[in-house]
Amino acid sequence: MSIWLPDSWREFPIVQQPTYDDLDKLASVEEQLKTYPPLVFAEETRDLRSKLADVCNGKGFLLQGGDCAESFADFNAPMIRDTFKVLLQMAVVLTYGGSCPIVKVARMAGQYAKPRSSDFETRDGVTLPSYRGDIVNSNEFTPEGRKPDPERLVKAYYRAAASLNLVRAFAQGGLADLHQVNRWNMSFVASNPLKERYQEMAHKIEEALTFMSVIGINPQTVPSIKETSLFTSHEALLLNFEEALTRRDHLSGNWYDCSAHFLWIGERTRQLENAHIEFFRGIHNPVGVKVGPNMKPDELIKLIDAVNPDNDAGRLTLITRMGCDVLGERLPALVRRVQEEGRKVVWSSDPMHGNTVTASNGLKTRNFDAILSEIRQFFGVHKAEGSYAGGIHLEMTGQHVTECTGGAYNICDEDLVHRYKTQCDPRLNADQVMELAFLIADSLKEAKA
Ligand code: PEP
Ligand code: CO
Repeated sequence: MSIWLPDSWREFPIVQQPTYDDLDKLASVEEQLKTYPPLVFAEETRDLRSKLADVCNGKGFLLQGGDCAESFADFNAPMIRDTFKVLLQMAVVLTYGGSCPIVKVARMAGQYAKPRSSDFETRDGVTLPSYRGDIVNSNEFTPEGRKPDPERLVKAYYRAAASLNLVRAFAQGGLADLHQVNRWNMSFVASNPLKERYQEMAHKIEEALTFMSVIGINPQTVPSIKETSLFTSHEALLLNFEEALTRRDHLSGNWYDCSAHFLWIGERTRQLENAHIEFFRGIHNPVGVKVGPNMKPDELIKLIDAVNPDNDAGRLTLITRMGCDVLGERLPALVRRVQEEGRKVVWSSDPMHGNTVTASNGLKTRNFDAILSEIRQFFGVHKAEGSYAGGIHLEMTGQHVTECTGGAYNICDEDLVHRYKTQCDPRLNADQVMELAFLIADSLKEAKA
């Protein structure tokens, strides 16, 4: 195999990239980014990789979630805080359910690039380039807005840096205090229309924490209970940005993509002979690949071997996104084959992208029950095949949006217009994700049994 360098992907076919007019400007922005400090440190990335190795061995569970697409307009402290809070709240419920550490990875601080089904969008007879995420162009449907602008790479870098700074402050500065997180959970349950369903577990968690306090385990005596670690992730779609932030680590001599701790390749860019797989081959981060319903067992083994030739636990997470109607039929053959061939992967479920539908008013949505069904079937298939269901990957927000239907507040098609704010795909809102956490805590407990 040929020598790998951060730019060797440039020799390979590539899809889902913008077409820039001003290539000199683009080159100068890339040179500028190469001189900027990395956003994450390789040692943190190795720490995540070793935590994911534990997950691979059944000793932990991966919780990954955040916006479908972060937006420059929503770049503010409440957005970051609320997503952070709800991830922590879910993690407490899942920790209790699974009696295992929850590895928390946010789709945040860099989730700015989106693959699109078409290069162009037509409205009222006007055709313009598709919106590809705020790192590329603007969602605004004007020729100026839709023009890919290289300066946006730099704007994305600074926003990612500031977001990460706040996340680190929250994680270490006291917002993650376990008792506080539990209080948020108790108030979520108290006001939920289906509280009877969630109350029992919430009370058990409350009792466990009260017991800990009584015997003297509190933030003063054990400072670690007010701290947490939250890692960052995004789809590594725009490879010139990823290349510019790829650095050689002086401790190990290895290359790391320092734009985030964890990167993944989407369903639309994972072709074996293409640039994205080539780029992933050389970076030492833990990485993910999305796996849709058309994946075949032979192809999956080739993909695994391309990205994780040393069969290292923790290096590769397969994020399945099949759809609740087809998962039961398609996933078992893939899991069985991976088991037979002894490949070490973390299996995670993205129950969002296979369950997108168009509501009666034309808005893109996803139904809570379909999402829950995909997750439960995911646990069921892994149990039946003697494999370990290691994580979930959600599009979610800490805000009270109305983008997905269903849940305790029974959001219906007509309600969607009220607070439909997403830049791209519909996200579960703060109540819906908490419900999901309570409802799958039992599945996790069973998976560990
Ligand atoms: C995404 O995660 O936002 C996404 C585009 O997913 P997929 O690649 O699975 O379609
Ligand atoms: Co999405």
